[in-house]
Formats: sequence, structure tokens, C-alpha cells
Amino acid sequence: MTTELLEGKKGAVFGVANHRSIAWAVADLAAQQGALVGVGVQNERMAQAAGKLVEGRGEFRLFQADLTKDDEIAAAAQQLKEEFGGLDFIVHSVAYALRDELAGRFLDTSREGFRVALETSAYSLVALARAFEPVLNDGASIVSMTYLGGERVLPGYNVMGVAKAALESITRYLAHDLGGRGIRVNAVSPGPIQTVAARGIRSFSKVLEVMKERVPLGRLADQSDVAATTVYLLSDLSRTVTGQVIFVDSGYHFMGL
Ligand SMILES: NC(=O)c1ccc[n+]([C@@H]2O[C@H](COP(=O)([O-])OP(=O)(O)OC[C@H]3O[C@@H](n4cnc5c(N)ncnc54)[C@H](O)[C@@H]3O)[C@@H](O)[C@H]2O)c1
Repeated sequence: MTTELLEGKKGAVFGVANHRSIAWAVADLAAQQGALVGVGVQNERMAQAAGKLVEGRGEFRLFQADLTKDDEIAAAAQQLKEEFGGLDFIVHSVAYALRDELAGRFLDTSREGFRVALETSAYSLVALARAFEPVLNDGASIVSMTYLGGERVLPGYNVMGVAKAALESITRYLAHDLGGRGIRVNAVSPGPIQTVAARGIRSFSKVLEVMKERVPLGRLADQSDVAATTVYLLSDLSRTVTGQVIFVDSGYHFMGL
């Protein structure tokens, strides 16, 4: 019996900006668990940072794709098909909103701010799933990263909360469309973690302080905790789990006070 959860599997993780990225923790743990992993970066600048992380490690392949560009997504699917053949998993760990939208009143969300946040943070999962559908093996697993702000109001999270609500709904619709091939689609909902994306949310340090005080488990979840649950969802251990949002937040989401 194997001890490695992802032995023989191949997949792609999108959203590595640096060593703090949730995507990097997932890619690293997936590789430790036996997978060959495509490490996806948005642009040249991030390719340099990620290049240092994967240097000398044969279990990784670096590739670049801006998920707002269909031609770059298609090129990534082609590149990974050539490198790996069929894929067993995809991790979407990507979000972006215009800075001005992440403070003040949600009511003041601009049309352009709404479009950018929803397109980059939610529609990108649809675009990715469609482009990669022919490359995915039957029984593959797709996981994205959402946040509590998709179902509750966290002042300042604003349009990103609406994007996460869309992402969670997209998770269920994709789970339905792809279920016939045994392909599963789930979302992980981490608590607050210090990353580049988190720094863009001006209420973040307050959220961190409040949640630290209230989590039933007494400590906040970190990147490695999120990676552990994600790898479970990528593995055959979760073979009949689909369309779910799994919180990895030390229990904060169920507290009333
Ligand atoms: N850090 C937290 O507190 C927290 C909590 C819950 C959910 N999340 C979610 O986790 C995911 C990863 O965020 P993170 O905290 O690791 O931060 P991060 O900044 O390390 O990762 C965000 C990634 O999104 C990528 N990205 C943005 N626009 C893109 C585009 N057009 N094309 C391709 N990639 C693009 C960035 O390059 C970056 O790699 C996000 O979906 C985020 O909303 C984070």
C-alpha cells in the first residue's frame, strides 16, 4: 500500500506569487505527496520569484498564464498536455480586485471594479475548467480558494465577497457539468493568512486580530493547513466529495460571537 496520497498524479496549481502564496504551499505538499506539479504564475515578474522556489526540483514545471486571457489559458493547457499527458488535478488560487474597491462602502462599487473582480476571481475558474476539460483525466479533481466574505459581510471585503459568492456557485455548476466523468469540483475556504493578496484588503489586520481571539481551535490556520485539506480534496480519499465548500479556518465561521 502506498503512503503517498498523490503518487502517480499530475496536475497544475495556479496563483504562485511568492513563498507565502497559498498556491505554493499546495504545490509543495502535492509534490511531497508524489505528484508532478505545474506551477502557474501570472506574469514574468512572478515567474522569477517562482523560478527560485522550483529551482533544482524535477517534480515541478513552471508555466505562465494570465487567467483573464483565453489565449494564455489555452497555451498553458497545451504546454501541460505536452509535459504531462492527462492531468489529474487543477488548483485555482487566484483573486484580484482594484485597490479602491477594497475599502469604504460596497455601495460605491464601480461597474469596472465589479467587472475586474468577478472576471479575474470567479469567471477565471469557468475559463480554466473549459480549456482544461479535454486535458483532464476521468476522476480528476478541481479545487479553488474562497473566503467567508462570500456568504457573510466583512466590511471592506466588498466586491471580493460578491466574487467569492459567484466562485462558490460556479463550483456547484461545474461539479454538475463535469460529474459524469467523475471529475470533482470543490472550494476550500481559508481563514485570514498574511499574503500579498491579503495586504490589498485594508481591514485585514483588524480581521486577523478579531479572528485570532475567537477561533475555537485557539490558533489561526496557515498555508500548510490549507494545503493539507486541499491535497485531501485532490486525492482519491475524497472520491465522492464534490460541489462542497470546506472551511479551513479553525472554526471561526460557525461562531455567533
Ligand atoms: N490570504 C488569505 O487570507 C485568504 C483567505 C481566504 C481565501 N484566500 C484566497 O486564496 C487565493 C490565493 O491568495 P493568496 O492569499 O495566496 O495570495 P497571493 O497574492 O499569494 O495569490 C494570489 C494570486 O492570484 C494571482 N492572480 C491575480 N490576478 C491574476 C490573473 N489575472 N491571472 C493569473 N493569476 C492572477 C496572483 O498573481 C497571485 O499569484 C485567492 O483566491 C484568495 O482570495 C486568501
